[in-house]
Parts: sequence; C-alpha cells; structure tokens
Amino acid sequence: MNAANHILEAIGNTPLVLSHSLARNVESNVYLKLEYVNPGASVKDRPALQIVEDAEESGELQPGGTIVEATSGNTGMGLAMAAAIKGYNCIFVMPDKMSDEKIKALRAFGARVVVCPTAVEPDDPRSYYSVAERLAEESPGGYLANQYHNPSNPRAHYLKTGPELWEQTDGEIDVFVSTMGTGGTISGTAKYLKEQNPDIQVVGIDPIGSIYYDYFKTGEITEAHSYLVEGFGEDIIPTTMHFDYVDEIVRVSDKECFQFTRRLVREEGIFAGGSSGGAVAGAIKYAEGLDEKLNIVVILPDSGARYLTKIFDDDWMRENGFLEDRWGDATIDDILQAKGSSGEVYTTAPGETVAQVIERMKQHGISQLPVVDDGRVKGLVNEADVLDHLLGDGAHDDPVDDLVETRFAVVAPTDQIGLIGDIFQDERVLMVMDDGNLVDIISKIDFIDFVTSHF
Ligand SMILES: Cc1ncc(COP(=O)(O)O)c(C=O)c1O
Repeated sequence: MNAANHILEAIGNTPLVLSHSLARNVESNVYLKLEYVNPGASVKDRPALQIVEDAEESGELQPGGTIVEATSGNTGMGLAMAAAIKGYNCIFVMPDKMSDEKIKALRAFGARVVVCPTAVEPDDPRSYYSVAERLAEESPGGYLANQYHNPSNPRAHYLKTGPELWEQTDGEIDVFVSTMGTGGTISGTAKYLKEQNPDIQVVGIDPIGSIYYDYFKTGEITEAHSYLVEGFGEDIIPTTMHFDYVDEIVRVSDKECFQFTRRLVREEGIFAGGSSGGAVAGAIKYAEGLDEKLNIVVILPDSGARYLTKIFDDDWMRENGFLEDRWGDATIDDILQAKGSSGEVYTTAPGETVAQVIERMKQHGISQLPVVDDGRVKGLVNEADVLDHLLGDGAHDDPVDDLVETRFAVVAPTDQIGLIGDIFQDERVLMVMDDGNLVDIISKIDFIDFVTSHF
C-alpha cells in the first residue's frame, strides 16, 4: 500500500504548476510551487519538522517538553503537527495583526496562543519575540524553536525544497523567486540551487514597509513601517536570512499582493495566500524586465483559506483602498519629470561640517541634503535639524554625522506611485536610485504637487 506512516511523512513533494493567465504578457515560463499542498497548508511545515528533529537529536528537546515559538501562524501549524505526533506541548506567540483563522487553527491543535502588540520595537518586553523568549525560559522542558535564528530553518530548504525543485525542473531553472520572512526558504533553497548551477538568479520579494530592500540596496537598517500583507518582510535582520545568495530584490505593495492573490484563484484556480500573490506579482515584474525567455520558479507559501475575512472579502478590500486604482500607471519617473529633475543631486558626506552643509544649502537654495558615503546613501540632513543643532549646544564646525536622519526609503524611477504612497504615511523622504546611482530625492511636497496637478 502506498501510504504515509504518519502525517509528517506527507510533508514536501508539492506540485509545480505552469502559470498561464497571470504570466500571459511575459515571454518567460513562470512556474508556481504550491506549498499550500503541504499537510499544514504552508511551506513552514518543512522547517518546523526539521527544527523539531534537530532539537531532538541535539537533546535540546526532551520527551514531554514544551515547544515555544514566536510565529505568525504557519510555523506554528507545522510545529503543532509535529508536536501532536511526537507528544510535545506547544505555546505560540503571535503579533496582533494576524488573521483570526490562523489563531483559531493553532488552538484547534490544542496549542496555547498568546497575542502581542505589533506596534512595539522588537526589543520591547511586550514584543512577540521577547514574550516567546521569556515563556521558553519559564516553561518546564521549554524549547524555543527560534525560527529567526535557528539554522535548521534554512537547512530544511537546503535538504528538501532545493533538491525537489532541481529534480522537478530537470535542472532547467534559471530564476528562483521567493518571499523573504525569516529568510529560511530563500536562503536554504538558493544555497542548494546555486551549488548545482551558480548562474541561477535568486530574486527576493519584499513588501513595502519591510527593511530588507533598503538594507540590500544601501547596507543601512532603516525604520520599518506597517503593512498588511502577512508572513514576509521584517523589521529586523534574522540570522537565517543570507543575502549572499540573493541577486535582486523586487518590492511589492499590499495592493499588488492582494490583487494578484485574488487573480490567482479566479484566473488559475490556485487558492493561495497574500504572500503568494506578492511573490507572483514580484516575479512578473522581474520577468517584464528580462529580454530573454527564462524558466522562473516562484514559491507560493500558503493557502487562501486563511484569509477569507481579509483578502477575499470585498468590504475589507474596499475599506483598505485595495479595490480602486487611484493613481493609474503613474510612476516615480513621472514625478521627476514634473518637477524638472536634472538627474544631478547635491549631497554631503559623513565628516563634513555643519557650516559646509549650510553653505551648500544656501548656494543651491535647497533645504535638505542626502548623505552619501563612497556611493552609498546613508541618510539625509535637513534644515530643521541644522537649526535645532545650532539653537541647542551645536557648533558650526561640528561634523554633520549626528544630524543624519535615516527615515528614508529607496525607490526606482520605474516604481508605480500606488506602490510608494504608503511610505509617505511615515513622513519619509524617497531616495530615487537608478542603476545604483542616486538621481534625485522626492519630498512629501513634491508628491503633493504632483498628485494635485495630475489627479
Ligand atoms: C505566509 C508566509 N509567506 C512567506 C513566508 C516567508 O518564508 P520564510 O520565513 O522562509 O522567509 C512565511 C513565513 O512564515 C509565511 O508564513
């Protein structure tokens, strides 16, 4: 009889399906890896099982112990499944933006679920990372699965997801596309694939508001801001996220994620979650920029069943502004042209003095200067901060370094305006980078000017 011995043996070997409708306007073949076909309905079954097995082997998890994890739900499902078979207790700590379905599903497995506020810093004692750490210490036989820093997480994908894809594609995979949450999926799978063929391009997908894109482009850790799509993007850099294997990052908005999620099920019958929509949206944007026909494989991390009251609810979509298209196809480049951008940006550098900055601002009639160090954007100095500095104890010959504001976000000229509107809710400045060069900055007033005269 061809039967699994227990549910954990049914993890993996998920289908790979060619996209037709969504990818119809790109030359490349776009293949979708349906991870919701796993028994816990997500890609996270794989690392969850690996984490438990590795902890058993190392002795960190003892019979009758308690598995504790900070999880947005899917890792919890995988851990709960493993715990049910292997006889462990589970406590899961979740941020409060997670869907009700996910919380209820974990409770169905008999797990204890603790909900924590999203709007606190990761090192705040109320954050879900900190609460999970504390609970693991306090619970008898407690073991913190620690998916953000546990090497078993990427290892699961190195051992299983990578080889599976290599086999399913007969080695004819050119581009691997994955969302990045803990980074386990992209890091482990990409490591394996690049070992087979170093020419395979690895593309990470990041939601606007996450710090990954800015970090990848500038090496700076900027401030995260909130977004609604669940499961990917971060406000910290986990040690399971290995950027060495990533060749490019494509950014997606909540709206793109949700619209593509809805299209996936309506046009292709693929009932996947919001990060899957984001992954496909990003993969297609990437494919649109290619001038050759390649085989692109995209990981679809979880199931649509967990988002019925959000992405698949028209009222929720409309209330959050995801159903109408306000800005049409307007791009950052349209804003640059409207403001008569010359492509030349006046900048300052770490070590320059406040006096030099004031002189440059006066000379060019500008109120803010990007800080660039050896071609890398470090932040921004603006006249309000210069004034505060001088009105306080600051001197003209102090270096500008202490005045550098890092609340900026990087955009490309081809980014759509709908994509970046959210960023301004956090009063950031947009640094426009084209091919690695800073070509302009866009302030809130530039954006207001543009939308009031064009819409
Ligand atoms: C729905 C969803 N999408 C994407 C991801 C990202 O996967 P990874 O953590 O391997 O980067 C996760 C991880 O929890 C997830 O739950």
